[in-house]
Amino acid sequence: MKILFIGDVAGSPGRDMVQTYLQKLQDKHRSDLTIINGENAASGKGITQKIYKQMLQWGAHVITMGNHTWDKKEIFEFIDDAKNMVRPANFPEGTPGKGITFMNINGTEAAVINVQGRTFLPAIDDPFRKMDELIEIAKKRTNIIFVDFHAEATSEKQAMGWYLDGKVSAVAGTHTHTQTADERVLPKGTAYITDVGMTGPYDAILGMEKDAVIKKFLTGLPVRFEIDKSGRTQLNGMIVTVDESSGLATSIERIMINDDHPFDS
Ligand SMILES: [Fe+2]
Repeated sequence: MKILFIGDVAGSPGRDMVQTYLQKLQDKHRSDLTIINGENAASGKGITQKIYKQMLQWGAHVITMGNHTWDKKEIFEFIDDAKNMVRPANFPEGTPGKGITFMNINGTEAAVINVQGRTFLPAIDDPFRKMDELIEIAKKRTNIIFVDFHAEATSEKQAMGWYLDGKVSAVAGTHTHTQTADERVLPKGTAYITDVGMTGPYDAILGMEKDAVIKKFLTGLPVRFEIDKSGRTQLNGMIVTVDESSGLATSIERIMINDDHPFDS
């Protein structure tokens, strides 16, 4: 099974890139399962039901989330019915939504899990022990397990990669919005990347208008950050090939589309 994962879609520039390139990427890589991190899809903070449905229409099978899950208040009205959406599984017991979902792709089942780190992010339940629980649940149905680990600290992400090596198909880091060049298949067969990167503004700072971010650093004053809509755009992602019976990865490849790395069909 080939799994295509698109990194944090930021605002309308990110959504435009998904609309333009998703089908092309699916065709090029002959992917079977498409997962998109959508926690920044609505103006950089959260997601709306309309955008969630749009991304499924464009070809996504599962939308993963993160620390911005609750930023658009309408999420509370639809997350319990959004069967193709996962939010961090280690949010406290009783939180709306779910952290694991199963997709049937041409008769083969795959589990998709979202967990969130705790270093430099709000204190929530332990993502490592939560993964132990979820792997046990997932393994009853499938060996194909994809994990979006939404976390800030590189060390925490690497720790999760090594902790889960041989137990899941892939651990893909999200949240920091800058693609890392450390993709590899770990020795026991788990594909790993510290951060898959961001899909959205290219001439910006983590997707936000750069002047505002620079002003914040220069003055320390409160500044309103907005998605940059004036500049060029990019798409970041990755493609993982997974052996369907063992659930282990055989390859991982980064995807980067921008003016410096044009799309090559
Ligand atoms: Fe995030």
